[in-house]
Amino acid sequence: MKKEKEIMTEEVNWKEGADHFLSVRDLVVEYTAAGEVIHAVNGVSFDLERGETLGLVGETGAGKTTIAKAILRILPDPPAKVRNGNILLNGVDLYKISEHEMRKVRGEKISMIFQDPMTALNPVMTVGDQIAEAIELHHKEFSPKEVTERACEMLEKVGIAASRYGDYPHQFSGGMKQRVVIAMSLACNPLLILADEPTTALDVTIQAQVLDMMKALREEQNTSMILITHDLGVVAETCDKVAVVYAGQIIELGSKEEIFDDPRHPYTLGLFGSLPTLTGDEKRLHPIDGMPPNPADLPEGCAFNPRCGKACDACRKKDKMPELIHIGGTHYVRCFDDGVKEKKA
Ligand SMILES: Nc1ncnc2c1ncn2[C@@H]1O[C@H](COP(=O)(O)OP(=O)(O)OP(=O)(O)O)[C@@H](O)[C@H]1O
Ligand SMILES: [Mg+2]
Repeated sequence: MKKEKEIMTEEVNWKEGADHFLSVRDLVVEYTAAGEVIHAVNGVSFDLERGETLGLVGETGAGKTTIAKAILRILPDPPAKVRNGNILLNGVDLYKISEHEMRKVRGEKISMIFQDPMTALNPVMTVGDQIAEAIELHHKEFSPKEVTERACEMLEKVGIAASRYGDYPHQFSGGMKQRVVIAMSLACNPLLILADEPTTALDVTIQAQVLDMMKALREEQNTSMILITHDLGVVAETCDKVAVVYAGQIIELGSKEEIFDDPRHPYTLGLFGSLPTLTGDEKRLHPIDGMPPNPADLPEGCAFNPRCGKACDACRKKDKMPELIHIGGTHYVRCFDDGVKEKKA
C-alpha cells in the first residue's frame, strides 16, 4: 500500500498539506439546450476536509447533481460547459490534469454513487466480477486471488454473503443492488464519495442500514463525502456541514447545528418549515410557495426575490446579487436583509 502522504500517479504528485482536502471555487456551469443557455451553477464555492460529510440540499433543478458531476469531470460537453472555477483536490486542480490522469482520480480517489443502481451495474456480469473489475482497475498490483478475496470482503462489508459473488444483478432486490454499487464505489478506498440521493430508491429500513454501513466504512477509512439528498432526517443523521443550494448558488452554508438550530436565509427557513430541529419529526423538505426559477431566465438581483417575504427594492436591482457573508462560526448566508445577516453573539 502506498502511503497517503504521497500518493503518486504517473504525472501528478499528490501531496498532503494543501489548505483543504477539497476546494471548489467559483464554479460556473452552463448547459446549452434548444438554443437557450441554462445557468445551472452560478458561482459555487466550498471546502471539505478529510472525514467530513457535506450535505447538499435544495429543490429540484437547483444544480446539485451538476456540481457533483463537475467535481468528477463527467459533465457531457456539449451540452454542458464549465465556464469558470477551480476544483482542487489536495491542492491539485482537477481541471488542469489530463483525461488520462483524471481517469485514475475517478474510482481511486473520488467515486460517485448515482440514485439509480442500474446505471452503475452491468446486467450481464456477476456482481462479484463487477466489484472485482473495479478493484483490478485501480490495483494492478493485486493477483487474481487477491482481487477475488477483496471483492468477497467488500460484499460481506455491505451485508451481502460472499456466496452470492456469482449472482447477477437481477437476482438481487433494489436495496441489495444499491449496496453492491456502494461496495463497488468503496472497494478502491476512495478519498471522497459523491453520493447523489443514494438511498432515495430504498425502503426506510434498508435506507437506515445502508446509511449506517456507509458511515461505518467512512469512519474506518476516513473518507469524505458529499451527500445530495432531499431528506432532512438523512442530513441530520449523516452530515457534518450543510450547503443549501438555490438557483445554482449556495445561499446558506454552515455546520449541521448552525443550519438546523439557527437557519437564517428565508429560503432555508421555508424549506425546513418554521421550526426545524435536529431531533424533530420533520424529515422532508417543505414545499414552499412559488416555483423554482427558470435557470434559462433567472430573476434580476437575488434569484429568490420573487418568492421571498422579505424582498425589498435592493433585492430586485439588476446585476446586484447578494454576496455569501460570514455571520460567525462557520456560518455563511447570502441575503441583503440585515436581520438575516445579523452576527451571532
Ligand atoms: N444534460 C442537460 N442538458 C440541459 N440541461 C440540463 C442537463 N442536465 C441538467 N440540466 C439543467 O440544469 C439545471 C440543474 O440540474 P441538476 O440536475 O444539476 O439539478 P439537481 O439540483 O440535481 O435537481 P434534482 O434534485 O431534481 O436532481 C436544471 O435546470 C436542469 O434542467
Ligand atoms: Mg440531481
